[in-house]
Amino acid sequence: MAIKTNDKILITGGLGFIGLEIARQLAQRRQPLVLLDNLSQQVHGALPNFSDRGFLHNSHVQVLRGDVRESDTWATALKDIRCVIHLAAETGTGQSMYEIRRYTDTNVGGTATLLDYLANQRHSVEKIVLASSRSVYGEGAYLCERCGMVYPPERPAAMLCRHQWEPLCPKCGAMIHATATPECASPQPASVYAATKLAQEGLVRIAAAALGIGAVIFRFQNVYGEGQSLKNPYTGILSIFSNQLRLGKVLDLYEDGRESRDFVHVSDVARAVLLSLDSDRADGFTLNVGSGLDTSVATIADLLRERIGGHTSAHVSGHYRIGDVRHEYADLSGIRKRLGFAPEISLEAGLDRFVAWVKGQPVESDRLSQASEELASRGLMQRDDQAITV
Ligand SMILES: NC(=O)c1ccc[n+]([C@@H]2O[C@H](COP(=O)([O-])OP(=O)(O)OC[C@H]3O[C@@H](n4cnc5c(N)ncnc54)[C@H](O)[C@@H]3O)[C@@H](O)[C@H]2O)c1
Ligand SMILES: [Zn+2]
Repeated sequence: MAIKTNDKILITGGLGFIGLEIARQLAQRRQPLVLLDNLSQQVHGALPNFSDRGFLHNSHVQVLRGDVRESDTWATALKDIRCVIHLAAETGTGQSMYEIRRYTDTNVGGTATLLDYLANQRHSVEKIVLASSRSVYGEGAYLCERCGMVYPPERPAAMLCRHQWEPLCPKCGAMIHATATPECASPQPASVYAATKLAQEGLVRIAAAALGIGAVIFRFQNVYGEGQSLKNPYTGILSIFSNQLRLGKVLDLYEDGRESRDFVHVSDVARAVLLSLDSDRADGFTLNVGSGLDTSVATIADLLRERIGGHTSAHVSGHYRIGDVRHEYADLSGIRKRLGFAPEISLEAGLDRFVAWVKGQPVESDRLSQASEELASRGLMQRDDQAITV
């Protein structure tokens, strides 16, 4: 169903990076909003600061501190709500590999608690929008000259150990090239985080259909932009790189630096979510949201260095993480057809905005080393000495 501008919307994780941008865009049109968040210390630090978010004081915006894992939270948060935008989640891919219970409790348990409430209590919810992730694909789609479109499985450790980074055709063993991944690709989650996002999708799709609630599932690519957590050392390559550059540290590029991702600006992501509210054309669909472009990590490092300045270099370390994908970028034909969505912010323009914002933020102490140590000590990150500086 389409949401009217006087319908009340609940955004879980509403004080997070993407939640705040969706809230800002909805507040501009005076949509009644409830933002539910537990203000996770890993994301917000000990003293959360929203002083630059004036719209939070608008009379039609209510902020509620609560935890999506608790049934009582939903009884309060869902009062008079027409639509739930469910974003609250633990989001660190590497960290999910050793904090399995915590990731499952929040991401799967929190979603199950919401759906349990909707199945068993009186409520006014008619639509759910779920933030899922590109990570459910694992390795993305590739083209083989002989076999056509193929979906290679996770790269085996033995292959990474030989520094053979590019996946080969799973059917004939030939060299293959990354291509845009469509939603019909069969999911191959390679991390606990990805497995929890895929589980969320299944729960929402099945329960919403049974309850007669419209459900839109978005698979976001790598979202970046002003307001992303600079404190969380477990997520966000742009946060990590920009902080390392400001600390004067050398950037550590994993593998050979040519692994690639699809970087989409947060305002484009929020716009896609708003489009899905304004019609029922995406109800019952799973849609990619991205830029539709693949950009190598080395290119991102260069673009950031140009903007942040400093004399530090990037360093191809040959380190690698178990479960990392090599390439993945979005096929946007589904969302273009359903919602008429196309990204509007180019990577260069988005990075200009991101860096201008970063420069006004305090430099965080180096928590990345600790996060990397945690992975290495568990055998989830491999290091070697064949490093070169670029
Ligand atoms: N940022 C990305 O690149 C990206 C990519 C794909 C998918 N996503 C998904 O989008 C959603 C939002 O991501 P984000 O980048 O804004 O992350 P974020 O960490 O900035 O925001 C998540 C918010 O959820 C809150 N939260 C965490 N656990 C909670 C709990 N138990 N109860 C209530 N609130 C809780 C946190 O305090 C935080 O404010 C997540 O579901 C994430 O999986 C993000
Ligand atoms: Zn082949």
